[in-house]
Amino acid sequence: MLQQVNGHNSSPDAHGRKRLREDLQEFLGREAPLHLLDDLTKVNPVTLETVLRCLQARYMADTFYTNAGCTLVALNPFKPVPQLYSPELMREYHAAPQPQKLKPHIFSVGEQTYRNVKSLIEPVNQSIVVSGESGAGKTWTSRCLMKFYAVVAASPTSWESHKIAERIEQRILNSNPVMEAFGNACTLRNNNSSRFGKFIQLQLNRAQQMTGAAVQTYLLEKTRVACQASSERNFHIFYQICKGASADERLQWHLPEGAAFSWLPNSERTLEEDCFEVTREAMLHLGINTPTQNNIFKVRRTAVALRFGRGDGQLFS
Ligand SMILES: Nc1ncnc2c1ncn2[C@@H]1O[C@H](COP(=O)(O)OP(=O)(O)OP(=O)(O)O)[C@@H](O)[C@H]1O
Ligand SMILES: [Mg+2]
Repeated sequence: MLQQVNGHNSSPDAHGRKRLREDLQEFLGREAPLHLLDDLTKVNPVTLETVLRCLQARYMADTFYTNAGCTLVALNPFKPVPQLYSPELMREYHAAPQPQKLKPHIFSVGEQTYRNVKSLIEPVNQSIVVSGESGAGKTWTSRCLMKFYAVVAASPTSWESHKIAERIEQRILNSNPVMEAFGNACTLRNNNSSRFGKFIQLQLNRAQQMTGAAVQTYLLEKTRVACQASSERNFHIFYQICKGASADERLQWHLPEGAAFSWLPNSERTLEEDCFEVTREAMLHLGINTPTQNNIFKVRRTAVALRFGRGDGQLFS
């Protein structure tokens, strides 16, 4: 079978293999450190080993973004890197004459996309596809993009439009904790794994200010309500309710203090995602008032009980 290495056909015969080994040694033995390669298209020869070595060297140097042509490869740092997402850095990418010339970053992708909409006479929709395996950082990246647009696409002229923009910005950002409470769960690979797919649409007006957002969700893993793999958990919202409900709410929702529910395994684990207050606060900002919230939590309880044929109103026994 023929293989292609950087455009050259090479057969897996002894000569081809020798040539590839030499190229590989030359590449790995080069003087310039590997972590300085900020675009994987500069890697030569392109093999799994050279690409992974390059990404590994960048990871070791705390450099988590690398271009691959017009695609951005994001490595999950698995640690907080606050300086990488500061508002100052957002503004730097936003103000740069050529953001693509700055270090690879998700803000560079965000800014270029924003400019693509802006620079055209007839605005053309732009799409950013965020993909990767579970735990890769897709949800994190989408949140970063939403925060970026909330900052750069909200520069209104009047005080009144400033207030409107601030409200929209808050609502867009507050949709995340709500969607994650109801649709995310702790799995073996990710404590905050999204158990659904989503299409987020950010809407801009002619002046390129954000005027709204729409989120469509797909393929929620509903079976998780009744069945979780061992060491995994049900959706965060159930643990949030159990841990965060007030004494009154517990009474209303039939949730005795300290009760254990077999459909809520591993509830002894404390995750930062277990915060009921954050969900309620975000719902409030989205315009869902406290009585409506209470109804939602009640309906959720009843729906779960009925769906699985329980008529006694008992929550996930
Ligand atoms: N850029 C980042 N900086 C710091 N931590 C990060 C970053 N990206 C991801 N993480 C960490 O990795 C965890 C997993 O990321 P995330 O939830 O975004 O994965 P995912 O790709 O959405 O996975 P799933 O498909 O399971 O939903 C996050 O909760 C966060 O702790
Ligand atoms: Mg996710």
